[in-house]
Amino acid sequence: MCKTNKGYLSGINSYFALKNRCKPTFDNTCKVCLPSMVYRCYLRTNLLKMRNKMNKPFSQSCENNKQPILNVLSKVFKNTKHVLEIGSGTGQHAVYFGQHLPHLTWQTSDLQLNHAGINSWVDESALTNVHRPFSIDLNRNWSLDIPDQSKSIDGLFTANTLHIISWPLVVKFFQGIKDNLINQASVCIYGPFNYQGKFTSESNEKFDLWLKDRDNESGIRDIESVLSLANAAGLNLIDDHEMPANNRLLVFSKKIK
Ligand SMILES: C[S@@+](CC[C@H](N)C(=O)[O-])C[C@H]1O[C@@H](n2cnc3c(N)ncnc32)[C@H](O)[C@@H]1O
Repeated sequence: MCKTNKGYLSGINSYFALKNRCKPTFDNTCKVCLPSMVYRCYLRTNLLKMRNKMNKPFSQSCENNKQPILNVLSKVFKNTKHVLEIGSGTGQHAVYFGQHLPHLTWQTSDLQLNHAGINSWVDESALTNVHRPFSIDLNRNWSLDIPDQSKSIDGLFTANTLHIISWPLVVKFFQGIKDNLINQASVCIYGPFNYQGKFTSESNEKFDLWLKDRDNESGIRDIESVLSLANAAGLNLIDDHEMPANNRLLVFSKKIK
């Protein structure tokens, strides 16, 4: 048996060695086994990559909304350096936006339970400007969770979180913005909102019922209440973009308070 096979000797490899008629040469290598081993390493690496791809969490709505959101973010974050995302979910948005906005760093964050999924997207992308998640639970004070260097956060993005978390956590979300973002930072909040106490569509009304059925503290928020919290956190509303599927993208700029 040549030395290529010796290092990997297992059932399948000895089968290959026999099948390939392993013939060690004077330096104990083999012209048959060496190329086949390289080929098998190549196959194994690609199989692992494929398995990783298949195990990644996937959200169809992220696929649908990522381009319309990017169209706005590319203008709003044109001069932004460090974006923090709250509730990164699958990690799909982070990878897509990081790839198309290479001038900035994109810091993902979420509850610990979502980190493995986010990591699989971030690692596979191999993007150097998209970072593995911070553990940010809005139940706690963010500053405890964010390392010091991220005090230079000049951009914040969150999608579909304000209707998932309870109202007291929405309050904490804006408190975190007040405490952690630098002056002039841009803040983008994507999701459905109600205006003047009314749903903007029948589908949003059904969605709200579905949300409340699974968690009574969740639900589509009134834009007026959100704007009031934003204002108290030092945010000025710059734009309220209409987005596909009855969603909005709120754009704020932080001013000194
Ligand atoms: C509906 S998902 C949205 C995920 C992603 N942003 C998207 O648009 O697909 C809501 C996200 O909020 C996160 N979340 C829920 N409770 C949270 C909390 N207490 N602190 C931080 N994130 C929370 C969830 O883990 C989840 O990633």
